[in-house]
Amino acid sequence: MIISFEGIDGSGKSTQAKLLLEKLQGEGRSVLYVREPGGTDVSERIRNLLLDPDVELDPFTEMLLFSAARSELVRTRIRDVQASGGIVICDRFFDSTVAYQGGGRQLADPLWLNDFQRSVTGGIVPDRTYLVRVELATARERLEMRFGEEEAEDRMEKAGGAFFERVIATYDRLADAEPDRFLVLDGARSINDLQRQITDDMKRLLAR
Ligand code: ADP
Ligand code: TYD
Repeated sequence: MIISFEGIDGSGKSTQAKLLLEKLQGEGRSVLYVREPGGTDVSERIRNLLLDPDVELDPFTEMLLFSAARSELVRTRIRDVQASGGIVICDRFFDSTVAYQGGGRQLADPLWLNDFQRSVTGGIVPDRTYLVRVELATARERLEMRFGEEEAEDRMEKAGGAFFERVIATYDRLADAEPDRFLVLDGARSINDLQRQITDDMKRLLAR
């Protein structure tokens, strides 16, 4: 079973992904936790390139690198865990590329990008995607708490508010288009509230 967490930077998705990991491990389940981009030696090297502020990347190249990191991760790790009946928790998966590169950067038609991602993963689609939805101002406040005001401003301002509004809108469209896969969570709620909602939903999924 593949579970992915999505949302803008500072939405609180990694907090929830890690809490779910602890909960499932506590139940004695075998779980692979991966964060994107990354999760394999090659993918971590691609991550360093993608997140290096000194490297200027053409937007299409950037999209292909995010996709290459994902292809490597799926084909060398995720597929095997899925085949043996384990659980994979992905802190971001291909919806991030559709929302950030398609919606945010507007580099390609999000519909085409969405189809392309099915080829990148060899047809693997998460069984459940938790979309942690927050307003931009909330995400910014949270990043300020985590990184300090200057770095948070840097991260958000480099891309700009309009960029993140487009990312949010694209995530919303993806969730509307696949209501059976997405569970949209109100990220303004407390960490405990959100965790409870996710745990309840996971119980239902695992009982299916
Ligand atoms: P993301 O992975 O989406 O970038 P994180 O999970 O790292 O976000 O959370 C960003 C910051 O916000 C962290 O300092 C975290 O403790 C805090 N945070 C996460 N979820 C909540 C929440 N529901 N309410 C308040 N603060 C939160
Ligand atoms: P990271 O430090 O992991 O941020 P976060 O804690 O918010 O997940 O950085 C990942 C950044 O890369 C984040 O800004 C989202 C972006 N990203 C894309 O633009 N496209 C993608 O396909 C993925 C996976 C991430």
